[in-house]
Amino acid sequence: MSRPYYIAGNWKMHKTRAEAAELAGALASRLADGKHKYLVAPSFTSLETVGAILRGTNILLGAQDCAPAEQGAHTGEVSVLQLKDLGVQAVILGHSERRHIYKEDDALINRKVKLALKHGFEVILCVGELLEEREAGRAEAVCETQTIQGLEGVSAADIPKITIAYEPVWAIGTGKTATPEDADAIHAFVRKVIARLYGTDAAEKIIIQYGGSVKSENAAQLMAKEHIDGALVGGAALTAETFVPIAKFA
Ligand code: 13P
Repeated sequence: MSRPYYIAGNWKMHKTRAEAAELAGALASRLADGKHKYLVAPSFTSLETVGAILRGTNILLGAQDCAPAEQGAHTGEVSVLQLKDLGVQAVILGHSERRHIYKEDDALINRKVKLALKHGFEVILCVGELLEEREAGRAEAVCETQTIQGLEGVSAADIPKITIAYEPVWAIGTGKTATPEDADAIHAFVRKVIARLYGTDAAEKIIIQYGGSVKSENAAQLMAKEHIDGALVGGAALTAETFVPIAKFA
């Protein structure tokens, strides 16, 4: 079964509009002949600027989060309606920084997943264990729970709009990458969870990205693994010089 590769850049809380525009412009031209599926997720404040540059290119516009409600008294939050208005096509949900710094739980993430799907967005659902959970032998159990609860109530018809990103928390921004073997084992396990929930066809088709200190030096080895279908890149997504070689890994 061959799945398309999907390489996404999560710009996190970096870049002014001018800086974001410069990077988006560089990626639009340098990835124009890229063979894979691409996305960048700038800060909310740069979505409009970056969206205008990416329109008509092969790079999708993503948001890093959304509110669990369409509108109302949610100070500081951003709604799917506002994201749609900006031309956003996909939303990253359940990122470990949302889970661990801002204490988002699986129930809240699940509400966001369902709302984003209802409004036609693609979703990148992030799962991943803490170091102490891995050391306690609980990596699979944590990823299983986050996958099952994150997708609770999501219909089989919507599964093609879901990408899973396995991001072991101990590998994010630390320079420590999971070995391709360790990452692949979790990806295979998550695929089995999807098979149990949605059948083997859905499981074979779902894209599972790896995230956590992906660099040009390790991208090809990770992506060579059977169950690793792409990458969700943080630090190395912040310049064209570091992101393009990952996006065009050979
Ligand atoms: P780093 O690539 O900086 O480790 O970040 C990974 C990540 O969290 C992407 O969402």
